[in-house]
Amino acid sequence: MRLFASLSLFVLTLGSFTVASPILAQTHMPPSAQNSAAANAQAAEQGQAAGQGAAPASGATQFQDPAPQRTAARAPQPVALTPPMGWNSWNYFAGRVDDKAIRDAADQLVATGMKGAGYVYVNIDDTWEGERDARGVLHPNAKFPNMKALADYVHSRGLKIGIYSSPGAKTCGGYAGSLGHEEQDAKLYASWGIDYLKYDLCSFIPDVMEKQSDKAQQMKLMQAAYEKMHQALASTGRPIVYSFCQYGWDAVWEWGPSTGGNLWRTTGDITPDWDRMYAIWSQQAGLERYAGPGHWNDPDMLEVGNGKLSYNENKVHFSMWAMLAAPLLAGNDLPNMKPEVKEILTNREVIAIDQDPLGRQATHLYSEGEVEVWARPLAGGAVAMAIVNVGSDRYSTHPFHLNLSRIGLHGPQQARDLWTGKSIELTDGMALELPTHDLLLVRIDAPKK
Ligand code: GLA
Repeated sequence: MRLFASLSLFVLTLGSFTVASPILAQTHMPPSAQNSAAANAQAAEQGQAAGQGAAPASGATQFQDPAPQRTAARAPQPVALTPPMGWNSWNYFAGRVDDKAIRDAADQLVATGMKGAGYVYVNIDDTWEGERDARGVLHPNAKFPNMKALADYVHSRGLKIGIYSSPGAKTCGGYAGSLGHEEQDAKLYASWGIDYLKYDLCSFIPDVMEKQSDKAQQMKLMQAAYEKMHQALASTGRPIVYSFCQYGWDAVWEWGPSTGGNLWRTTGDITPDWDRMYAIWSQQAGLERYAGPGHWNDPDMLEVGNGKLSYNENKVHFSMWAMLAAPLLAGNDLPNMKPEVKEILTNREVIAIDQDPLGRQATHLYSEGEVEVWARPLAGGAVAMAIVNVGSDRYSTHPFHLNLSRIGLHGPQQARDLWTGKSIELTDGMALELPTHDLLLVRIDAPKK
């Protein structure tokens, strides 16, 4: 639903990257990142988060430095040390999700190899909620006859399970929210074995926030509501990934980590079309300093395989979400997934970019007309770079010419094209012919600055 417009700022960051980069001079080590998605899956089975022990970022770079975190006083949450991966019911099923759809999704994550590629969370979005009984205990509606049994089933497949609620009295879909029942609901989730909560602002806006005329006071109420559920989840003692869904209001990336958020939506809802997907990723520029292990900007769930996105558009969508260190929550019809969609979603080298243990979100380094260049540092001194043709009217009579110095690189660079699997030498000024809505996504293991 797009009831609530995002207040996210569109921030251009050109100029934030021009300093020569010590990180590019770090001693090269073999990329460990490619193993991290598999580690994610393995960690799920062991009831842990992947990515622990990730190498700390060091040195100034042409990329923005991470924001100092204000979570030091709190016990660290041992979850989401790499961006969460899994599947969520909303983008394909919306209100049609039921027990069978969740079991099917779990089965398919295993059967398609997606689980092996790192997808571990099976998340039930809105419309599972029924009524509260006389003691205030919330019961699922008839679509979910036994939530504990469903959670056990998902766990038996070596996966984890997520659920959805709102700090308001009603969810976006008009179902029961958690207002006034936060501790009770958190305990209920823990008793079912829930591993992930998406908490969606929705009716809290009109029912609570807008009862105050003062905007700053409204935002304080919102933050307090997210803190309240954080405390309720923490008091269960169960590691539960906490996902904020409040569309980026009041620069959530600044207060999300200190309020217990492991990820926070930065915008309004995604839809399966290029323009919306592109608008959302554009709004991530400048937010890279807020992302890191345990706390991620969330540009919303994947639409890969949904709507009318072309093969190239699906590829760009997946690549850019990986560059942005975004949660990778597939949202497609898994039992009827086309081979080309599975190929995209299970590209392990692209997933390794997303899951890189350094956890550094890509920076928008420069644009030339409709071609954008984004890059992110990876563990071991490697770099990932995406060169994307976001337009629809550039043809090969006038190819794009790469400017390596604007990326902080000098001299020929040995790279690997993550979609063809081929080696490619990048040279300054080289002509690149990029079809409409397509990209070159490369990994440079030993960048030369
Ligand atoms: C909001 C959220 C969506 C989805 C729906 C469910 O629109 O942003 O991701 O959870 O609510 O009603």
